[in-house]
Amino acid sequence: MATVTATRRRRADSFQAATSFQIHEDAPSTEDTEMNESALQHPDDDATNQDGGGPGDEDGQDSEYVESSEEDGPDDSHIQQDMEKLQNCFSGFRQKYRLIKRIGEGTFSTVYKAEDLLYDSYDNSWDLDRDTEKWSPPPLRSFASQSSATLDYQSQPQPQPQRRRKPKYVAIKKIYVTSSPSRILNELELLHDLRGCESVCPLITAFRWTDQVVAVLPYFRHADFRDYFRNMTIPDIAIYLRSLFTALASVHRHRILHRDIKPTNFLYDPASRRGVLVDFGLAEREGYDCKPCVCHDDPAVRKARLRPLLSSTLKPGYPREDTRPSRRANRAGTRGFRAPEVLFKCTEQSTKIDIWSVGVILLTILSRRFPFFNSADDIEAMIEIATIFGQRRMQTAALLHGCMLETSIPTIGKSGFSLQGIILWSTGRSEKHEVPADEKLAIEFLSRCMELDPSKRISAEEALEHEFLRLGMDQSVEGTSEAGDDDEMDILRV
Ligand SMILES: Nc1ncnc2c1ncn2[C@@H]1O[C@H](COP(=O)(O)OP(=O)(O)OP(=O)(O)O)[C@@H](O)[C@H]1O
Ligand SMILES: [Mg+2]
Repeated sequence: MATVTATRRRRADSFQAATSFQIHEDAPSTEDTEMNESALQHPDDDATNQDGGGPGDEDGQDSEYVESSEEDGPDDSHIQQDMEKLQNCFSGFRQKYRLIKRIGEGTFSTVYKAEDLLYDSYDNSWDLDRDTEKWSPPPLRSFASQSSATLDYQSQPQPQPQRRRKPKYVAIKKIYVTSSPSRILNELELLHDLRGCESVCPLITAFRWTDQVVAVLPYFRHADFRDYFRNMTIPDIAIYLRSLFTALASVHRHRILHRDIKPTNFLYDPASRRGVLVDFGLAEREGYDCKPCVCHDDPAVRKARLRPLLSSTLKPGYPREDTRPSRRANRAGTRGFRAPEVLFKCTEQSTKIDIWSVGVILLTILSRRFPFFNSADDIEAMIEIATIFGQRRMQTAALLHGCMLETSIPTIGKSGFSLQGIILWSTGRSEKHEVPADEKLAIEFLSRCMELDPSKRISAEEALEHEFLRLGMDQSVEGTSEAGDDDEMDILRV
């Protein structure tokens, strides 16, 4: 087993700088990794796409997530078998981790919750909760294990319950063996670069045995977005977004594009009002594999370069014989969350694509509709955006990247709708409804995130300074991190 050490260092070598991965080999396991069948249903992501690609190649770019239900407990024999395989794959696994349950099954991995049995043997300076998460076991349990059932609790001297650490949990991300090695390395390297960034889930360590790689991350308790987004007040939304933008500001400062911002990749705990950004499986460095796009030209230069395109006559619909040169651009991400420049195959995408995706999350929360966009492919996604923003603004956005947009679809009006109008409509309020001042501020912020032109779109740093996100500052932390973790209760009952 090769171990890639990122955040985790044993105390003894805690003086060594941990700036690069250290790899060492353990004794080989007796069991080879088996091909995960479910992984075969998710073709690996091909980061680039040619013009004219049909809907068939869409899936390879999409990241979908199926949440494990509560029934996915240890009784499910298929999950149990997978957990057994994982434990047998790596020698010494059982001494290090106690697998508890499957918590997620994504396009590229299966994620399990586990107890970190050797937590105290390591340098945990990265763990913000290391000192606060101490707990006292209930005295009843310790008495019962020490003595007979006839123990008279009242007359016995009451020993002071010893303070010991709460069990520490990790999320073990088993990356499907069909993922390309370069893609896995990319995810681990980026996470390594981002260690210490606020609100970004750190990588503790990673293991490899032949083609099976697992990443170990601190377990972050979170709620299902669908269970809380409809009840969020405007200050709640500001706090949620402040946490998400804090993570994005760090990621973007490192000139990294996350590429897959969506609710399931931002784990949020409404009780403690904390969130962490996860899943850097599609992330990339800004400027990587880029070619110049006219959107980065001076407007006058762009106009001159686009003159031949503007003078050509285009008919709406799919061209019968398309003589245009093919264009390759990264469109990795999730349907409904892709920025317009991704849909227009901009070859010089920036960190601003993530800001658009946050805008989609905000639009979802304010409109109380999930998913807000529900397209089958990129063309439908363009139609959805054009329906809101109108043909004129969408045409200008297309031209920015050297694309012409012509349509005769009747639902796409010339000037579209206002975001406020859309939100009022989707929440069943009339146009004449007086919008409260804080909601108006949220909508104004939304329009800054959903700016069609990426150069005019707000940056993560600017967002943190925006009046709306300032509503999310200095809010006292309500609820506690002690609140109901069923798995911890399970452990008490053992
Ligand atoms: N550190 C963590 N703590 C708690 N749960 C986690 C953690 N990391 C991941 N998960 C759970 O596992 C799910 C899938 O994780 P992740 O997004 O990293 O995998 P993925 O295979 O890339 O998923 P997808 O393709 O759907 O984006 C998350 O949505 C979350 O519910
Ligand atoms: Mg994910």
